[in-house]
Amino acid sequence: MKRRFAVLTALLLLCGLTACGEAETQSGPGQSSTGQEEILSVGETSMPDLPMPSAVTTPEASGSGGERETAEGRVLVAYFSATGNTEGIALQLQSILDAELFEIIPEVPYTEEDLRYSQDDCRANREQNDPAARPAIAGTLENPEDYDVVFLGYPIWWGQAPKVVYTFLESCDLRGATIVPFCTSGSSGIGSSADGLKELTEDTQWLEGQRFDGGASQAAVAAWVEGLELPGSAAATENEGTRICLAFADGEAVAVLEDNAATRDFLAMLPVTLTFEDYAGAEKISYLSQDLSTEDAPASYDPQVGDVTLYAPWGNLAIFYADAASASGLVPLGRVVSGLDLLSAMDGEFEVSLSIAG
Ligand SMILES: Cc1cc2nc3c(=O)[nH]c(=O)nc-3n(C[C@H](O)[C@H](O)[C@H](O)COP(=O)(O)O)c2cc1C
Repeated sequence: MKRRFAVLTALLLLCGLTACGEAETQSGPGQSSTGQEEILSVGETSMPDLPMPSAVTTPEASGSGGERETAEGRVLVAYFSATGNTEGIALQLQSILDAELFEIIPEVPYTEEDLRYSQDDCRANREQNDPAARPAIAGTLENPEDYDVVFLGYPIWWGQAPKVVYTFLESCDLRGATIVPFCTSGSSGIGSSADGLKELTEDTQWLEGQRFDGGASQAAVAAWVEGLELPGSAAATENEGTRICLAFADGEAVAVLEDNAATRDFLAMLPVTLTFEDYAGAEKISYLSQDLSTEDAPASYDPQVGDVTLYAPWGNLAIFYADAASASGLVPLGRVVSGLDLLSAMDGEFEVSLSIAG
């Protein structure tokens, strides 16, 4: 019997993970004379700096799926990682969620040569080009039906999930589970990569996925998790908050604002384009053209990574991407639930268009 997932009971935000919009396309390997150019996202003008494989997965490296239960239900992080980037995110998720871990290990590990995507006929490219390819996996997930939530991680290969992830989904019965895809890539977004995976499952609920840099911080991963509308979480049940979209040159972030006097004033200003800059290596700040009410604000506030705040004494918005000390005059407005890593990576002054998410 599946039980409801309620590990993140401290969450008070309602949000979906729907990004403000994703406009990336990829073509399959070997479909142009230029080859690798096709993995560029729309709008990019140069080759992404794709890390070439430095290691391959081996069965010995596997953390096979266990059966440890959380207090309220079972959460699994299942992932495939050829060169370690996705594994890094998977391990962070395991720690954040106190989840079980299952590494999808190909029976025949990928060698550097297999992953040399610049060669049209390398193994990875051949598999991605072949709709019927299902590379065998070593080991099986025991009792897949027991998991309520499955985080499914993979690297982006030509815009899609590697075929070995398809093999995994076809090998186990995840009916009834909520599946949350995540990925790493050189630069591409998660795009439509989950679409082909969804078709392989029955009676599952899929949440919007998230792409991470291989080096994404645990705080960024945790901020994403906090915003997820997982079954049983407060985010799914409390139905609170107004989602706003922050669009900037390198991507988008989504934040959920709570209901207070300051946020009501702020929401009345939207849509608006603001100039942000870095502050103290911990915040992205922007000065507002008008004051927001601090009527019901606390005297001071200890900001958490991902918090959207107003620093009333200076009249600026402050979005925290690193730890900072409690400050008087700091007013919590809400939380960034996706895209914090992209926002924090922005250099110098940059414009952000803020609007209420549709
Ligand atoms: C065959 C192949 C295809 C790839 N295609 C893309 C792509 O379409 N877009 C992209 O940004 N990165 C692409 N990459 C880079 C990987 O997505 C990226 O390095 C990823 O973080 C690797 O994750 P891993 O270390 O968990 O295997 C590709 C890599 C390989 C080997």
